Amino acid sequence: MPKTIIFVDDEEHILHALRRAFMDTEYVVHTSASAAEALALMEKGKADLIVSDMRMAEMDGHELLKIVKDRWPSAIRIILSGDTDKNTTLKAVTDGVAKAYLTKPWDDAALKAQIAHFFSMHDTLNSSGVLETINRIDRLPVLPDLYYKVVAMIQKEENISKISETIEREPGWVARILKVINSAFYGISVASVHQAITFLGMIIVKDIIISSDLFESVKGKGMGEMHVDFLWEHSNTCNRILHSLYLSIHHRDIPEEFALVGVLHDIGKLLIIKCFSDKLDGLVRQQESQPLRPRIDAERAIIGTSHAELGAYLLDWWNLPHVLVEACLYHHDPLNANVQNKELVSLLTIVDYFSWKAVGKKPRFDIRNEIYECAGITRTDAISAMKKAYPDFNE
Ligand SMILES: [Fe+2]
Ligand SMILES: [Fe+2]
Repeated sequence: MPKTIIFVDDEEHILHALRRAFMDTEYVVHTSASAAEALALMEKGKADLIVSDMRMAEMDGHELLKIVKDRWPSAIRIILSGDTDKNTTLKAVTDGVAKAYLTKPWDDAALKAQIAHFFSMHDTLNSSGVLETINRIDRLPVLPDLYYKVVAMIQKEENISKISETIEREPGWVARILKVINSAFYGISVASVHQAITFLGMIIVKDIIISSDLFESVKGKGMGEMHVDFLWEHSNTCNRILHSLYLSIHHRDIPEEFALVGVLHDIGKLLIIKCFSDKLDGLVRQQESQPLRPRIDAERAIIGTSHAELGAYLLDWWNLPHVLVEACLYHHDPLNANVQNKELVSLLTIVDYFSWKAVGKKPRFDIRNEIYECAGITRTDAISAMKKAYPDFNE
C-alpha cells in the first residue's frame, strides 16, 4: 500500500510547492492549510507521516503534533519550519512531540530523500524480526516519572532554578545525574543539578534521566561483556571520547541532541539483560567461543534481533529524537545507504571501536577507511584524541 503524507502549512504557496515536489512520487499526498483540516484528514484515514509548519494561526504545529502523537502514535511527526522558529522547534523535538525538524527553504531532492529515509527507518524498526522479539517482552521499560515532570516544565518554559529544585526534591536522582555527568563528559565536573543544567543544557540532563533509569533497573545484573557494570564503563567511555574527538575536530561542543549518544548507543544490550536474561548465558558463551563473530550476528541467531535494533526501537518508542534513534540503529553499520547523519554515526562507530581498546578488549569489528572519511577524521586524529583522554592508551 502506498504511504500517505499530510503536509500542513498556512501559506498556500508552500503547500503548492510541496504538492509539486511530491507529484511524481509513490506517496499519496494531502495538504492542509490549518491544523484543524489536518486533524479532520487524520480522522478520515490516518497518515503514515505528517509534516507540519510551526507557526500557524489558531493551533500551532506543536499543539497539532501533540494531538497526533496522543491519538495516532504510529504516525511519524516532522516539523518543517523557518529558521526563526528554532527555539520552539527544538522544544518540540526535546519533548518528543516531533521526531525531527527540517528547515525552510528546502531542497526538493533533499526533502524527498529525508522522507524516504524516515519511512525506511520506520519499516526497519517495525520489521517482523524486530517486532517478533519485541512482542516476546512482557512490558517495555517505561520512562521514569521524573522525566515527565521535567518535560512538562520544559513545555511551560520554567526557569533553570525551578527545574533543578524539582529534580533535587526526588531522592536518589541528584547523585545519579551527577555520577553520569562526571563519568560521561570529558573535562566537566559539576556539583549540583543547577550547575549541570547551566553547563550542559536541559536536553542533556533529560537524556541522563532516561539512561540512568534503565541502567539502575538492571543494577548488578548480566555477565561478562553483557554485565551492566561493564556496559556502564563502556558507554561512559564512548561518550567521553566522542566529546573529546568532536571538540578537537570542530573546536566546539557536540550538538546538544547528540550529546548523550555514547551513553545511549548500547541501550539495547540493557534491554537484553533486562528482558532476555534466559538467553544471556548462550549469548556470552557464543561470544567467547567465536571471538571474531560480529556480536549482532550472534544476537540475531539467539534472540531474533540485534541490540542495535532493540535499542533503536526503544528510543523510538520513547519518542526520542530521530537523530539518536538513527545513531543507535546504525552504529554497527555506519556506511548503510540509509544513514543520513553520516558524520556523527561514523564518529560514534569509531569511538565505540576505540573504547573497547581503552578497556583492553579486542573489538569485534574493524574501522574501514570509508568510515574515517565519513567522520571527517583520520585514524591518527582518533588515536591522538584517545591519548588526550587516556594518557596511557596503547593502540
Ligand atoms: Fe553496539
Ligand atoms: Fe558499544
